[in-house]
Amino acid sequence: MVVPESQDKMYYPSGDLQRDAHVPDFNSYLALYRKSLENPEAFWKEVADEFFWKKPATGPILQYNFDVTKGNIYVKCMEGAKTNMCYNVLDRHVRERNLGEKVAYYWEGNSPDHHMTITYRQLLSQVCRCANVLKQMGVKKGDRVSIYLPMIPELVYTMLACARIGAVHSIVFAGFSSESLCERIMDAQSSVLVTADGVYRGEKLINLKQIADEALEKCKQKSLSSVTKCLVVKHHALRTRSGAACNKLQTPWDSECDVWWDEVMRDSPEECEPEWLEAEDPLFILYTSGSTGKPKGVLHTVAGYLLYSSLTFKCVFDHHHDDVYWCTADIGWITGHSYITYGPLANGATGVLFEGIPIHPHVGRFWEIIEKYKVTKFYTAPTAIRLLMKYGREPVQKYDISSLRILGTVGEPINPEAWQWYHEVVGQGRCPVVDTFWQTETGGHVLTPLPAATPLKPGSATFPFFGVEPTILNEHGEELEGEAEGYLVFRRPWPGIMRTVYRNQERFENTYFKKFPGFYVTGDGCRRDKDGYYWITGRIDDMLNVSGHLMSTAEVEAALTEHPAVAEAAVVSRPHKVKGECLYCFVSLKDSREFNHTLVEELKRLVREKIGPIATPDFIQNAPALPKTRSGKIMRRILRQVARNEKDLGDLSTLADPKVVEVLFSQRCEAA
Ligand code: PRX
Repeated sequence: MVVPESQDKMYYPSGDLQRDAHVPDFNSYLALYRKSLENPEAFWKEVADEFFWKKPATGPILQYNFDVTKGNIYVKCMEGAKTNMCYNVLDRHVRERNLGEKVAYYWEGNSPDHHMTITYRQLLSQVCRCANVLKQMGVKKGDRVSIYLPMIPELVYTMLACARIGAVHSIVFAGFSSESLCERIMDAQSSVLVTADGVYRGEKLINLKQIADEALEKCKQKSLSSVTKCLVVKHHALRTRSGAACNKLQTPWDSECDVWWDEVMRDSPEECEPEWLEAEDPLFILYTSGSTGKPKGVLHTVAGYLLYSSLTFKCVFDHHHDDVYWCTADIGWITGHSYITYGPLANGATGVLFEGIPIHPHVGRFWEIIEKYKVTKFYTAPTAIRLLMKYGREPVQKYDISSLRILGTVGEPINPEAWQWYHEVVGQGRCPVVDTFWQTETGGHVLTPLPAATPLKPGSATFPFFGVEPTILNEHGEELEGEAEGYLVFRRPWPGIMRTVYRNQERFENTYFKKFPGFYVTGDGCRRDKDGYYWITGRIDDMLNVSGHLMSTAEVEAALTEHPAVAEAAVVSRPHKVKGECLYCFVSLKDSREFNHTLVEELKRLVREKIGPIATPDFIQNAPALPKTRSGKIMRRILRQVARNEKDLGDLSTLADPKVVEVLFSQRCEAA
């Protein structure tokens, strides 16, 4: 690889940014990249030396087996070392680096009237108190704690409190339904659930406690519920309630199980000795959609995740002490875990923690917040950019956003139009756009530009991060050289890669390592161009990416078929201007059932209830029959073409009954 000079339109880093950058040019990137592969020991030791180790590692930086034909898949990082994540992201700054008074977070509520500043010292104190509360509730090292909270400081307090005492947090995005929450609590066998009374998302008031109670009730019905205590943050009642809103929420209460956060925190001591953990002890579980429909508990462990989330944050956002960094994701997703909590805090960064949505109370909210806190590094999703683009330049230009230096995107491929708008209108042509490709499973960025080093091509996640060795395989598992398109896989682990699927090693191996022995399979398609740039082409399994949220067709199909009128359902994606992709569902009804507007609304409601509002279908079409092969397999390719109105269907010879297709075209939905 050489410094790229291409015929494509390229965007080169500015000298200004390069002057004091951690990785100041492409040659430095190449030299470091080579070192990370050729001498991982020396490379990662330098990173590890920044942190506190109660006991040093006795084993090599990485030990692994990536080949299913040679035995179980495993990855171990810094074996023998003992440390504590919470100590490294908080105490180390307060005690060793004199950063106690530095702002850790500017919390900005759903309403611009609600905000708060939290220093590193205050954060440490709250985390210790919460850790003591959890201990008081009987939580011990290795126990799981489910967290169902909105974007409020208590979410960070709780996750770090778990990390401090060696409990394993399992955060469930607070937009998920009670059914989804129940499923995740049962799989993790959590002993404590942490939630809040309620929260406003935009104009909408959500009774979180009621949803949490429904989830616990469902757990009880399905088995013996593992949850013995429910810790409830008084957020709506204390912080957001005003005027008419106060009557809108009844918080259901079970005095056996429920405990108010503020009551127990008040008397909880501010000192809590961290639990010194083994490098490979679990840090958290985070559920992600699986192609069978049942979510997978992705497990990350302490030392490797610390090294990786910290270094990627430092390099990809070129972090400096005086930065104000803002990632608009929700901590309920991996982006929030790695790049709101752990990565930024490991670097002693100042971040914005935002509870609200981009267009409330007005469409300039993001830009208003950037002006208010003088944000320098801004990280968001293509779907948010596409949404805000609709309102034009004017709402952006109303605010002074000249503090911005680096922009980032994550979650889905970014289309060139959105990239250009982000670069020109938001970045004023000055700020590089780092398009970061990664997954819940990878723990941190794996393909990404470095802002002062990598010449950018809009829409490409460019090159691998340090320690990551990508390659592209064809259907037969043969490696493709040079310009190529195929399956994106990785040949070796990096410290932040997942370790297993919680309580299901077999599923871990089957999902990621079976198809091509010797490689981690991402499930994404990818193209490498003549300059060596990687371009993600999208999922090549039965997964959909709606507004940057991954979901499986199987889980939506399972929800639809729970309706008594539905005999069979098949879900495919259809391109959507804002969401990237949206859900287009085909339903075959049982005999004598009528397809009408009421049924469509019932089905949408059912999916919302079963999974959550993010999975609401945009289109539901009547399918008197589904296109199947003679062996009975649904031909999704054809359904995708019906959804997109693509009439050139190619080879239909494997279809059992080709007439089915005509009927589907005649009944397709034009508009949502
Ligand atoms: O398909 C890829 C897409 O999102 C998937 C991972 O989703 P999840 O585990 O929910 O994590 C999202 C946040 C890291 C990937 O398999 N994806 C993520 N980032 C990009 C992307 N697709 C294209 N470009 C990206 N930058």
